[in-house]
Formats: sequence, structure tokens, C-alpha cells
Amino acid sequence: MDDLPKGIALTVFDENYRESPYPIYKRIREQTPLHHDDELNQHIATHHDDVKSVLRDKDMWSDPRKANPGTYTYELLGGNDPDNEPSMLLMDNPDHKRLRSLVSKPFMPAAVEKWRPRTREVVAAVLNRIDSTEFDLIKDFANPIPAIVIAELLGIDSSCFDDFKAWSEAAVKTAFSPFPDPEDVELAEVAQGKLNEFFVNEIQQRREQPGDDLLSELIRAEEAGDKLTEVELMDQCNLMLVAGNVTTTDLIGNGVKALLDNPDQMALLKNNRGLITNAVEEMLRFDSPVVGSARIPNKDTDIQGCPIVKGATLAVSLAAANHDPAVYPDPGQFDIERVDTHHQSFGGGRHMCLGAHLARVEAQEAILALIERFPELRYSDKGFVRAVVPGFRGYESLWVCG
Ligand code: HEM
Repeated sequence: MDDLPKGIALTVFDENYRESPYPIYKRIREQTPLHHDDELNQHIATHHDDVKSVLRDKDMWSDPRKANPGTYTYELLGGNDPDNEPSMLLMDNPDHKRLRSLVSKPFMPAAVEKWRPRTREVVAAVLNRIDSTEFDLIKDFANPIPAIVIAELLGIDSSCFDDFKAWSEAAVKTAFSPFPDPEDVELAEVAQGKLNEFFVNEIQQRREQPGDDLLSELIRAEEAGDKLTEVELMDQCNLMLVAGNVTTTDLIGNGVKALLDNPDQMALLKNNRGLITNAVEEMLRFDSPVVGSARIPNKDTDIQGCPIVKGATLAVSLAAANHDPAVYPDPGQFDIERVDTHHQSFGGGRHMCLGAHLARVEAQEAILALIERFPELRYSDKGFVRAVVPGFRGYESLWVCG
């Protein structure tokens, strides 16, 4: 198994991987039940059923401070820093359960559905700003939508949207990078400082004048007995911004790209708008915005007989799981009528993406309105550039003509 790719070759910094990680994971999946990347010191599960059960396994930690020193999770996510207060994504019970239950109500499907009409208006306003037949689908369309929706959910003034998007992009760029560029790290720190300062002010304002927005709701939850500390409040706002912005932009971008690459599927959707729900699930499966997640076993264990010690990094490739032919017939085929489009793109178990339904609603509304407004949508000669954000898969730019 020595010739299987490791280290940087399994990151977006590698040109082949950036172009398409799927053939790379196919090779790994076919050759081994569990890949060991000894350059970054991580095990990587690529088989669908293993990925699914690891994500849901209650005997797994997420807190990097519990990982063994020298493992990928420990080194990447600041496991050695005793002052490191991880966000919900990297917390274990009982803290995780407490925090998640405090913030989860507004993200339940029924609550998010109440936002659908407003999301539709946001999409329409973003489309109305496009005043040229040739435009960058990412900058002009996929970027602003999630930023505006999340900011509105939190009750933040519309004049701050551009700053908001820029800060969250800078903060996420190095968040999961094994080889961060020092300049980007500095930019991320400055952006994070600005975000924190911004939220301190917003929290103060909501305390004085509560509204019916998410931030006010989080503060009210705090006041109803079970408490979010000031730092936790700020961390949750940050996490929602960072976790919800880049990912949803990538879902819209990757989804439209898949439609442009498969004109028969584009035609199907145009002729039957009712396919949008299934189409977005297939977009999530076919080209997931988040390529992987990870867990830390809290005892010695194994996958298909391959041993894994307590405290090791057990990475799960969501991208690989979604293309496992044992589960998905013809996995490289983009098929919006696929009967079973379940996927691993939102993770699973205790840490299953909190914003999953919100992301779905945004993508459904955005893509339907886009193809209605531009029924002849096609690539422009200016082409596209893939984004280089470790852990994520999307586009920096994607030029189209309407
Ligand atoms: C297409 C868009 C999105 C994708 C693909 C995505 C994917 C993910 C994944 C893979 C995880 C980790 C799950 C695990 O390890 O089991 C996660 C966690 C999370 N996501 Fe999302 N996400 C998206 C959009 C959003 C949005 C819009 C929000 C909120 C506004 C959000 C908030 C969160 C939060 C708070 C967590 C941590 C949950 C926990 O640890 O309990 N995400 N997401």
C-alpha cells in the first residue's frame, strides 16, 4: 500500500486532488479497508458503511485536546493548547449536548421553512443586482446569498454583509489547513479579531434591545436558566457564520456546475421544478462541499480488522463514502432522478450538521430562481478557478453567460 497517496497529495494543495479527489479515493477504497497516512498521522476511512458508522459511533470523541500528541487532529486543531476553547463541532458531552440543545431550535426544519419566503426574496434581490449577461456565478450569486441569510437570521444590519463575508472567508481559509500560509494565518487572525469585536457589540445591543432574531433567542435561552456564557455565545455566532457561509456557497456553485456539465439533467430540472429537492440531495452526494470529518476513538478499536489505538485520528472521507459503488450504482453519474440520494455530506450522529436544512432551502431556492431567470445559462469563455480551502471543495470563480 506504499504507493497510495498521503500527506499533501490528499489535500486541495495537490493539483490532481483539487481537480477531482474521486479517482484518488477510488484507488484507496479498492486497495485497503482503512488507509494509513503516516505523513499526517491519520487513518482514513473511505468505505461508505465504515464512514457512516464511525460518524454515529458514541465511543468516539471530537475534542482535539483528548487526541494523542503528534496525531493529525491534535496538531491541526490546537490539541496542545490548554486555553483552546473548541467550538461545538469539536466538543464532547456533556458540554456538546448542552450547547447544541440551546441553539438547535431555530435550525429545525419547521423553523427553517418559515424562512423560505424570506430566502426567496434574498435570492431575487441578489439576481436583480446582476446587470450583465456575463457574470461570475460565485462572486455575484453564490457568495452573497448565504451571507445575507445568516446575517439576517442573526439579526445583523445589512450594511455589514460584505465585511461579514470577507471575514468569514478569511477565517475559514486556514481553519483546517495542515500547511497554512503564514500570511493567510495572519489575515485569519485579524479577521477573527474583527468578527469577535463585532459580535461583542451585537450581543450588547441585543441585551439592551432584544428582537425576534436568532442572536436574541440565544441570549433569551441563556436567561431562561440553562446558560450560554458570553464566550460560548460568541463562539456559536462565529461557528454559524464560518460553517454556514463557505459551505452553502460551495453547494450552490458545485450544484450549478454539475447542471452545466450535464445538459440533460439541466433540461430535466427546467421541465420539472418539482425535482429540485432530489436534485439538491444529488448535488450534495455528487460533489460534497465538505470533503471530510474526523473522530478520535476513546478506546482501542478496529475497522474491518485494521487496528486503531485510542486517541488516534480517524478521518472519514465524506467524498469517498458518497462515491462508493457498493452503495451508489454508477456513482460518478450525476442523476437528479436517482432513487436513493442519501449521502454523508452533512456528517452524522451527535455532530450532524446543524444547518443542514437551512443549506438545503437556500440551495433549492437559489438554483430554481437562477435557471428561471437565465434559462439559457451556459459557460462563458472566462472559465472557472477552483478554490484552495483545505477541507472544502468549491470554486473561487465560475464564469457564466445568461
Ligand atoms: C451545504 C452546506 C453545508 C455542509 C455541506 C455542511 C457540512 C457539515 C459537516 C460535514 C459537519 C460535521 C458533521 C460531523 O462531523 O458529523 C457540520 C457541522 C456543523 N454545521 Fe454544517 N454544513 C453546511 C451548512 C451549514 C449551515 C448553513 C450552518 C449554520 C448556519 C451550519 C452549521 C453547522 C454547525 C453548527 C455544525 C456543528 C454541529 C455539531 O458539532 O453538533 N452548517 N456541517
